[in-house]
Amino acid sequence: MKTIIEPFRIKSVEYVKTTTEPEREEILRKAFYNMFLIRAEDVLIDLLTDSGTSAMSSKQWAAMLDGDESYAGSKSYFHFEEVTQKIFGFRHIIPVHQGRAAERILFTFLLSDIDEDGRFNNAGKGKSIPSNNHFDTTRANIEFNGAEAVDLVIDEGKQPELIHPFKGNLDTKKLEKFIHEKGVKNIPVCMLTITNNTGGGQPVSMQNIREVSAICKKHGIPFFLDACRFAENAYFIKIREKGYEKKTILEICKEMFSYADGCTMSAKKDAFANIGGFIAMNNEDWYQNCKSLLIITEGYETYGGLAGRDMDAIAQGLEEIIDENYLHYRIHSNKYLGDKLEANGIPFLKPAGGHAIYLDAKNFLPHIPPDQFPGQALSVELYRKGGIRAVEIGSVMFGKYDEKGKLIPADMELVRLAIPRRVYTQSHIDYVAEVLIDMSRNKDKIRGIKIIEEPKFLRHFTAKFDLI
Ligand code: F0G
Repeated sequence: MKTIIEPFRIKSVEYVKTTTEPEREEILRKAFYNMFLIRAEDVLIDLLTDSGTSAMSSKQWAAMLDGDESYAGSKSYFHFEEVTQKIFGFRHIIPVHQGRAAERILFTFLLSDIDEDGRFNNAGKGKSIPSNNHFDTTRANIEFNGAEAVDLVIDEGKQPELIHPFKGNLDTKKLEKFIHEKGVKNIPVCMLTITNNTGGGQPVSMQNIREVSAICKKHGIPFFLDACRFAENAYFIKIREKGYEKKTILEICKEMFSYADGCTMSAKKDAFANIGGFIAMNNEDWYQNCKSLLIITEGYETYGGLAGRDMDAIAQGLEEIIDENYLHYRIHSNKYLGDKLEANGIPFLKPAGGHAIYLDAKNFLPHIPPDQFPGQALSVELYRKGGIRAVEIGSVMFGKYDEKGKLIPADMELVRLAIPRRVYTQSHIDYVAEVLIDMSRNKDKIRGIKIIEEPKFLRHFTAKFDLI
């Protein structure tokens, strides 16, 4: 059959509230045109993120009821450890409350000198951590520790219109050059984000993972994967990379992780969990140090900031996400939205990503220059017109200022329509496409945006904006 159906039935529903355009105009004004400052109940279709927004399965809820809340040695931890080891294969696993906690612990350790008393003294200055593209929290955790986060994605990955099967790949030539220029001792780890969220939810090929790993090994640089969307990446490898057609998702995952020394993971994505994450690694010394930081700041090693029931939900979710039938539906349902936009000439980053469609605001709103944030303007209009909430991934999120305070724009001006897992049906997606098609008819009238207040780090979360 041609129709790809949702491979689940709905057992429990949550009603959504409809609002009128004038109501939404008022809501936008009160929220200073920042999507993060709008109340969720005022959103009709929430595509702000796919993180922590998945619908859990009945088996996950059942597993939660069985959660063991013992402080130490909880049964839930061993369940979690068993499943993560089956898929990721690393010797040590450290549960944390979400991905950025994994990043904070890992980078605090890697970017510190540890004195005789076991104290961590920041030594991030002059150090660099390369990746294909760092996600915003990853970048912030590196920069907060005084080091530099460097993006080395292939050039194809920066051209929204260009079709390439693995636009998330890291440019290995750029990596070699970078290592040569920076010096191995200034690169405590090399990362690779699978799939590449900042670059459009684009996958990284097995060949690229293998090559980056080999370069790192040659120079003695540890290599970590940011594994948030590992299963979606594995599915892309299966359907796009020669030699993997007949492999199971689990086999592909095991191979991907076999090339790395460890990974950070937000279980809020490819584990269908509402909260949680972990750091996994092989190195005993790193493990001991990260564990110390964990116990000081997150919790004891067998729960690390999570309830026992959260670890059970993650373990069950991980078993479910590596189901090929689910991944087939997941990737094709995103493509379904992409195909509708394509047919109506709405520009987006191609091909469709694993967890989202990224609208190309630069192309969609050519009358709005980067310093008037076309991505932010587009997301404001999406909410105003259709009650749809999306997130800007452009110069608001990644723009910097030069010494004179002039904006250095991001490479791309994107608006991400992130699709929560197992939450919306095809008619919700049809509605999103219809709103966009309708918007595109009067897009010349969409106004630019200015920032009126902003914090130092991760400004997109709390900055205040106004229409120009
Ligand atoms: N790495 C990647 C690639 C991510 O996409 C995220 C989160 C994190 C790390 C941090 O994980 O949120 O659990 O602390 N991305 C979310 C998003 C927030 O909307 O893309 P976290």
